[in-house]
This record gives sequence, C-alpha cells and structure tokens, in this order.
Amino acid sequence: SEQKLWGGRFEARTDSLVEQYTASVETDKHFAVQDIAGSKAHAAMLAAQGILTREEAQTLRNGLDQVADEILQGSFEWRDDLEDVHMNVEKRLTDIVGETGQKLHTGRSRNDQVALGFRLLVSERVTAWQGHLCGVIQALVEQARQHVQTILPGYTHLQPAQPVSLAQHLLAYATMFQRDWERLNDAQKRIRVSPLGAAALAGTTYPLDPQAVADELGFETVFANSMDAVADRDFVLEPLFGASCIAMHLSRLCEEIVLWANPGFGFVRLPDAFATGSSIMPQKKNPDVAEIMRGKTGHVYGALMGLLTTLKGLPLTYNRDLQEDKAPFLEADRTVGLSLEIMARMVPELEFLPEPMRRATRAGFLNATEFADYLVGKGLPFRQAHHITGQAVAAAERAQCGLEDLSLAQFREFSPLVDEDIYAVLDYAAAVNRRQTPGGTGAGSVEHQIATLSRWLEMV
Ligand code: ARG
Repeated sequence: SEQKLWGGRFEARTDSLVEQYTASVETDKHFAVQDIAGSKAHAAMLAAQGILTREEAQTLRNGLDQVADEILQGSFEWRDDLEDVHMNVEKRLTDIVGETGQKLHTGRSRNDQVALGFRLLVSERVTAWQGHLCGVIQALVEQARQHVQTILPGYTHLQPAQPVSLAQHLLAYATMFQRDWERLNDAQKRIRVSPLGAAALAGTTYPLDPQAVADELGFETVFANSMDAVADRDFVLEPLFGASCIAMHLSRLCEEIVLWANPGFGFVRLPDAFATGSSIMPQKKNPDVAEIMRGKTGHVYGALMGLLTTLKGLPLTYNRDLQEDKAPFLEADRTVGLSLEIMARMVPELEFLPEPMRRATRAGFLNATEFADYLVGKGLPFRQAHHITGQAVAAAERAQCGLEDLSLAQFREFSPLVDEDIYAVLDYAAAVNRRQTPGGTGAGSVEHQIATLSRWLEMV
C-alpha cells in the first residue's frame, strides 16, 4: 500500500497484523461526525487567525462536509491501514480537495484532536442519558400519582418494618435517578472543555485561538494546561461512574420487580411484553427483562474499572494506551442507554396490586412502632414503651394474630394506659398518613414530592 501520512522517516511497511492490532477504526466510527465538526472549527479558526486564507478554510469545510455525508450515507471506505478516524478523514479530504487538505492539520496533533472529538461524543451521549433518566423519572412519578393511598410493607433487612405508601417507595427511585441526572450534569462542566490548541503536548507556535474553537462547538471553556489536555481522560471516567451508579440503581429496582412478581409477594403483575415463559413449565412468567438489566450492571462496572486500570500509572502525556478509552465508554453507553429506555417503557406497564400489598402489611407487626409511640403519648418513656410493645408482639405472635386483634383487656395486661383509642392508632393506613414530616411517607409529603419532581421535570 501507499505511504503512511506519517511515513517520512520509515522505510519498511507496517506488519499487517500490527496494522490490525493498533487500528482504532471500529471504535472511531462512532465519533467520526464529531471529529469532523472539530476539524471544521479548527479550519475556521486558522483562517480567522490569518494562518490559512478564507478560501482555503472554506475549501476545507466544504470538503469535510462531503466526507461527513459519505460517512453518514455509508459510502465511505474505511481503511485499517489508515489507523484511525482522523487519518481516514484527512486522506479522503485530500483526495477530494487536493493539496489544501494537507493544510488542515496545521497547529494540531491527533492527540488534541482525538480528545476533542471524543469529548464531543461523550457530552452528546451523556446528554442522551440525561434525557432517558427523565423518561424513567416521569414514568415513576406517574405511577406514584396513582398510588399515594396504596400501602405496602416497608422493609429493613428485607424484614417487615413499617407500612409505607407505594408512591413513597417509587419516588425513592425517582429521587435516585434525579441525583444521577444531577451528577451527569455536574460532569458536563468538565466534559465540555476544548483541548484543541494543546497540539501534541506542549502547545504550538501558531497564534491559535482555542476559545474560538470552543465557541463554534458550543463548549464553554478551554484547556488550562496543554500536557493535561492530551493526557486527561477524567472526562470519560466521570460519566462511567455516573453510568455505574445508574446501572446500580436500575439493578436495585429490577431486584424489587423480581421479588414483587414472585407469588410469595404478589405485589406486581408483569406486562406480557416485558416477560418471558418457560419451554418446559407452562405456568411460568419470568421477569427476564429485570434480570438481564440487573445482570448487565457488571458490564458497566467493568467499563469503569477497565478504564481506571488503563489510566493507572500512565506517565505524561499522551500514550497510545489512551486509545483503549473508547470501547468501555461505548459499551457503557449502549447498556445504560438501552436499559434506561426499556425501564421507561416498562414502569408504566407494571400493574401494581394494592390488595396483596395491603394484606402483606398485616403480617409482621408493622404497627408495633405505632403502639410504642401511643404509650409515649400517654407519658411513658420510649424505652419502657418499646419493651412493653415487644411483650405485646410476643403475645400476639403466640396467638398467631396481629396487635390490632388483641382485646382491650389483653392490652391492659401489658399497660393500664391503653384505651379504646388504640385501635385507630394501630390502623395501617393511619400509620402511613401520620408520617407527615418532610420527605416522609404521609400523603401530604408524598404529594409534595410529586409536585416538586414534576416541576423539576418541566425545568430540565
Ligand atoms: N487513535 C488514537 C486514539 O484513539 C488517536 C491518537 C493517536 N495519536 C498518536 N500519536 N498515535 O487515541
């Protein structure tokens, strides 16, 4: 094959297996459009600074548009022997516009170029994740609206603890995903920094205007240190941590969907479109979507751990190891993007079953705290109230009934302070709605959370 673009000092040609091994064409295809946008901004800036003529810059920009069209239409011929997106594009550009194409790389290195193209892609993908997060939050809020008065057992240690509103439970997840959104939004500040002008590592002798490039691309700021600019991949790590957090939150929601679909709970009926059957057991309806989503969490963590490990101990500045940053990001992007989209579609289809939930609140003495608080209200110190309630629970357990099934006479054996009003206090729905502290499970607090999240969704 012909000369490499960097082939001036080489005599022998590259081993063909090495060519394959070192090429990044497959991963680079994903940000070809962004790479070209960066090149167009670079060309315009070179002209504005008098480094190229206006005509040259226009020729380059038109040529780059044509290359982008060819790529989008699928007619572009990618070549592994041209290593990466940058040289594939530059080669084709030069074929189209002639010698002017060879001026595009003035004052630039692939080291700052690749960082710019990849930052553009990462920022776009992170924005897409943010959009998908809003879809999931929206779906959770809509379900919560329907279930402010639906009560179910709240658990600690997966043991019955206190009754809660289903809306409160769903809004806990909405709150996690909102935090994920904010986390990504914070990261955007550090992703959307243009590294162009750092050149290979030391800056350049041409009078470049890095801010002009940032402005054309919609990035707010530019690099502060040229060596950091080409060596830094924090802008990939942060989104990968954000993605890991999203995957972790999704996996916890999935786990609850799996549990709740189990007849032992029977809290939710899965939509047919999001479940699968068994090839041998005719009765089966399995929560495979939730299981697979839970399972995919590992890939996302793997992407974060993989890139952290790639970066560990790398000396300044650019090292070819950095090329290994694309695959983990693309993997996390595929997984998290699709998982969020599917979750946003599945949540509205989940059929929550208030009756089994209500029945479940009656097993496990979820109103024991109410009894203790009742005694405190009658003047008993909390520790004594706790102890007496424990004795009442033990008695009810022996009798295989709930606290609310004990007679007044039985209650009075534990404490003479108990009156007929205890039965209203032990009511499970009343226990939920008594918790009106900010962020609590009471209807007022839950309605407030729904309103706050809805307003937030309209704002972002
Ligand atoms: N394909 C490379 C990457 O993804 C582009 C930068 C290559 N720079 C170099 N000097 N070989 O990191």
